Amino acid sequence: MRSRRGLLATLLCGLATAGSLGAGSAHAQQRGSGEVVVYCTVQEEWCRPMMAAFERETGIRVAMTRKSSGEFYAQIRAEASNPRGDVWWGGTGDPHVQAAQENLTLEYRSPLLAELHPWAVRQAEQTNYRTVGIYSGALGYSYNVTQLQRRNLPVPRCWSDLLNPAFRDEIQVADPNSSGTAYTMLATLVQIMGEDPAFTYMRNLHRNINQYTRSGAAPARSAATGESLIGITFLHDAVTQKVGGAPVEIVAPCEGTGYEIGSMSLIRGGPNQENARRFYDWALTAQAQAIGAQARAYQLPSNRNAPIPPEAPRFENIRLIDYNFARWGESSVRNALLERWGREVRQAPR
Ligand code: G6P
Repeated sequence: MRSRRGLLATLLCGLATAGSLGAGSAHAQQRGSGEVVVYCTVQEEWCRPMMAAFERETGIRVAMTRKSSGEFYAQIRAEASNPRGDVWWGGTGDPHVQAAQENLTLEYRSPLLAELHPWAVRQAEQTNYRTVGIYSGALGYSYNVTQLQRRNLPVPRCWSDLLNPAFRDEIQVADPNSSGTAYTMLATLVQIMGEDPAFTYMRNLHRNINQYTRSGAAPARSAATGESLIGITFLHDAVTQKVGGAPVEIVAPCEGTGYEIGSMSLIRGGPNQENARRFYDWALTAQAQAIGAQARAYQLPSNRNAPIPPEAPRFENIRLIDYNFARWGESSVRNALLERWGREVRQAPR
């Protein structure tokens, strides 16, 4: 997924083959036993049916916990001498890339790689097959239409519009230390503006932020209820709220925006490695990836045969940057950006 044109081609290709769902059943194998410990970094509403379907299909019990991307990265690192998890499923790619680089995750070439879009395979190639793309989605924000109109405030369209003093204490976004969504925003702004101007922007934005949440998708819920006017999240998280009936509109910022390659990794030294590979292969099937939309998760799936939910924000309608996943997932780069954010943004006067 390097250029918009390449991306468009892969998405169209995905659409053309979306009818062949069920191909995943070709990968169904004999019943398994024992358990697998899965660290899940999508929304709880998607984690649960995904694990239940795997248990039903394989007979393998799943012990699942849900946390944000940066939190599981830190946990896997802290557990490295005595790993407790087997698979890390979901969450933004940058901390998966960092874990791969720090040798916390295992190289594995799934036979299912042949069914994936080139952007998902590229994520594997760039990390020596220590992580793989499972879905994708673009970053942006949503605003509460009812509240905006009631207070007669201007409709925001761009990143720059969020600096309007009229939005003081009205914007919510996650903390990039815990949240991969917020780290994607940080890296996106640096790629769009350059590092120093991006930090100036974030310090100015800080005045308008009412809370830095732990989880990346929480601000979409805050905008949906009107508790905040604006929530910065992945666009598909805002779509979930809109489909649920919330009065929100969704904005792909005019200056351009970044995106995630949601990823999956096998944890080095995990206690159930055979079952972990079984989960990994299964999670890459079209059949398993179709569970997302049923749980109102509207990412773009990485299996070419998985149906693209009609509600999913389409990349061809968004001004996407050429996000450099290898660079912004690099340990020293990610650590340095987070450290600077803590020092210059979080501590900035309001
Ligand atoms: C939500 C999104 C996912 C994303 C994840 C990252 O669940 O739907 O697409 O990968 O957030 O979570 P985090 O809490 O780390 O920002």
